[in-house]
Amino acid sequence: MLNIILMGPPGAGKGTQAMKIIAKYQIPHISTGDMFREAIAEGTPMGKTAAGFINAGNLVPDDVTIALVRERLSKPDCAHGYLLDGFPRTIPQAEALDTLAKEIKRPITLVIDFECARPELIRRISGRRVCAVCGAPYHVDTLKPKVEGICDLCGGKLIQRKDDNVESLIVRLEAYESKTKPLLEFYKKRKLLVSVDGLKGVDVLFQELVPLLDRIGTK
Ligand code: AP5
Repeated sequence: MLNIILMGPPGAGKGTQAMKIIAKYQIPHISTGDMFREAIAEGTPMGKTAAGFINAGNLVPDDVTIALVRERLSKPDCAHGYLLDGFPRTIPQAEALDTLAKEIKRPITLVIDFECARPELIRRISGRRVCAVCGAPYHVDTLKPKVEGICDLCGGKLIQRKDDNVESLIVRLEAYESKTKPLLEFYKKRKLLVSVDGLKGVDVLFQELVPLLDRIGTK
C-alpha cells in the first residue's frame, strides 16, 4: 500500500516527483507547504499565523502543523493511500504521524529521501516558478512551460514564491540540517528509508521510482 513520505532539502525535487507520482498512482498529495500557502491566500487565522514563519524560511510550529495533517489524513480519500510531501520535518512531527497513521490504519510503507547538493538547490530555488492555481513547479532555465508564464497542467499563472529568495533559503537549509535531517536515521532504523539521487533528471528519476512504488503498492 502506498503510504509514502517524500523527504529532502528545499529544492531537492519533492514537489516535482510528487506531481508525477500522484498522476500515475492516483493517491492524494498532502503537501503541508501547499496547504499553508492556500491558507495564507485565503487569509484564514492559521494562514496569518503561518505566513511570518514561512516567508522568513522558518518552520511553522509543530502544534499548528500536526493539527493540519491530522485533519487532512482523516479525510476519506486517504483510505487507499497517501503521499506526504514536506511532512514530517521534526522528530515530534514524526512521532505524531506514527500515532495518526495507526489511528487511520495506514502505517507508513516507504520514505523516499531526495539527496541534492547545495549549489544545485540554490540554482533550482532561485529559478523556480510555480503555478498560482495548482502549485506545479517549473524552472526558468531547465523546466519551462510550453507557453511562457502559463501552467501546462491547468492554465494558471506562474509566480515566484515569497520564500524563494537567498535570505529565506539560507534559513530553510539550516532548518533542514538541524531539524529534518535527523529524521533520516529515525526512518532508517524502521527500515523504511530509500535514498535517491535528486541530481538526476526529472524523468530518469521518476523511472527509477516506478519499480519501487509498484512493489510497495502491491504489498
Ligand atoms: P515546502 O513548500 O514544503 O517547501 P520546501 O520543503 O522548502 O521544498 P520546496 O517546495 O522548496 O522544494 P521541492 O523539494 O518540492 O522542490 P521542487 O520539486 O519544487 O515548505 C515551505 C515552507 O512551509 C517551509 O519553509 C516551512 O516554513 C513551512 N512548512 C511546510 N511543511 C512544514 C512542516 N512539516 N513543519 C513546519 N513547517 C512547514 O523543485 C525545485 C525546482 O527544481 C523547480 O524549479 C523544479 O523545476 C526543479 N527541479 C526539480 N527536480 C529537478 C531535477 N531532477 N532536475 C532539475 N531540476 C529539477
